Amino acid sequence: MNIEAAKNKVIENGFLDVEVDVHLDLFSEIERLKKEKNAIVLAHYYQEPDIQDVADYIGDSLGLAQKAQSTDADMIVFAGVHFMAETAKILNPTKKVVLPDLKAGCSLADSAPANLFRAFKEKHPDHIVVSYINCTADIKELSDIICTSGNAEAIINSIPKEQKIIFAPDKNLGAYLSKKLGREMLLWNGACMVHEIFSMEKIVKLKVRHPNAKVLAHPECEEPVLRIADFIGSTTQILKYSKTDPATEFIVATETGILHQMQKDSPHKTFIPAPPNNSCACNDCPYMKLNSLEKLYLCMEYETPEIHMDEAQRIAAKRPIDKMLEISRAAGLLG
Ligand code: 13P
Ligand code: SF4
Repeated sequence: MNIEAAKNKVIENGFLDVEVDVHLDLFSEIERLKKEKNAIVLAHYYQEPDIQDVADYIGDSLGLAQKAQSTDADMIVFAGVHFMAETAKILNPTKKVVLPDLKAGCSLADSAPANLFRAFKEKHPDHIVVSYINCTADIKELSDIICTSGNAEAIINSIPKEQKIIFAPDKNLGAYLSKKLGREMLLWNGACMVHEIFSMEKIVKLKVRHPNAKVLAHPECEEPVLRIADFIGSTTQILKYSKTDPATEFIVATETGILHQMQKDSPHKTFIPAPPNNSCACNDCPYMKLNSLEKLYLCMEYETPEIHMDEAQRIAAKRPIDKMLEISRAAGLLG
């Protein structure tokens, strides 16, 4: 199949829906393509283990944004969700950015439609807008500063106390920051479908059977779960905590993909996924898990699906991301 035919296939399905030869060793094929095309594979911790194992860099949203900005590769292969690949393109417009499946969206990003958010912002002209990076380029364009879970405290603390703030789109992260920093903020009513599903009652019951287990939670979780957590942080921060803390058992309230690195870093420790409030596998992000090793290989081979952006929008969306990176650098948060 040539690249044009491949692009037409993507238009229909969001990904390259073609059969991959079952005899291919995808790990070595991906390594070959990295060299041939001077490509870098960036993966979020929520990706499936095989994708994490083949990635050149695995990180949280902040680390991935920084890596996307600094890489000298010609092609960035983003194993994550759409807003992350879009951020990579915003920061590095001359590079080709491909995503294994264009339909890998985000419920949190979807919870802030641009037209409604614009109207909300217009009602509060004396507020500045801090947006969590889990949002579309349309929302980034309407924002003054972007933040991630890894730098949100430093970002809010960099804003003068008397300045009013709208925080979007995650109401749980916003409420957590308000409480922790003693800072009132106007919160947009959005949330992540994965982090909202954890049950505080079930975690407490689990603790009865594992009294020495520490609870690690991502700040996208709801307040009752955060209240009983021993440590709250971004995916990178909770991974680091699980490695350095002397405890040997942890209940993990975030997407299950992170358990792969936790177990690799600390093979002698036990990691238990926090239970959701029903019997589904809802602590797997259905968007992150749309990517597979086959789709990753195909998008590298055919260089599609590719992220394209209108240049005026890219420049407007870059401004608040640059501000975030500048504040993070000054706070010593970038690696
Ligand atoms: P971090 O990578 O910043 O921890 O965010 C988690 C998340 O939900 C990404 O979609
Ligand atoms: Fe979005 Fe939640 Fe999935 Fe992260 S885990 S990509 S915030 S839906």
